Amino acid sequence: MCCIFDLDGVLVDTAKYHYSAWKRLAKELGFEFSEQHNERLKGVSRMASLDILLEVGGITGLPEEEKQTLAAKKNAWYVEYISRMTPAEILPGVVDFLQHLKAGGVKTAVGSASRNAPLILERVGIAHFFDAVIDGNSITKAKPDPEVFLRAAQALGVPPDCCIVFEDADAGVEAARRAGMKCIRVNH
Ligand code: BG6
Ligand code: MG
Repeated sequence: MCCIFDLDGVLVDTAKYHYSAWKRLAKELGFEFSEQHNERLKGVSRMASLDILLEVGGITGLPEEEKQTLAAKKNAWYVEYISRMTPAEILPGVVDFLQHLKAGGVKTAVGSASRNAPLILERVGIAHFFDAVIDGNSITKAKPDPEVFLRAAQALGVPPDCCIVFEDADAGVEAARRAGMKCIRVNH
């Protein structure tokens, strides 16, 4: 058996930083973005998240170029927040569990939608635990598409039905199901 971990909301609590940055963008655009709205963005890619945010704000028909500018602006704020992360922000139990798996010779991978995954793993100091990292930089289809998890299984050299996925978001649980993997949903 191998374990594949989602990053945001499973290994680290970065959802609060995503929320701060999206909220800041919404404010600039002239509307409020609640925590309840933010729930819809979990596990969803950056551009798909922007589309949901614009829908909440009732903003339609923006040209693609403008959307790219807004997403880049949000990401610059987000990167500013996560650049200050420390190992204290690893979620409880994570390091013990990863150590336990390593000691037992269980291979592990990260399967994340985020393009910032390498920076986060490096900031909180857990990159060395993983045999493979598949993230938003190397996939073409976002969760709920199974691509990220299938690529992780491939990188670990095992078939999908030998993998257990740890996920916190609906889109990720669905991606694991479509990949033919077992999935453990992690809640707060
Ligand atoms: C997921 C998060 O892990 O990554 C989403 O749950 C986020 O909220 C997505 O939108 C993409 O992240 P990034 O860092 O590439 O903008
Ligand atoms: Mg997540």
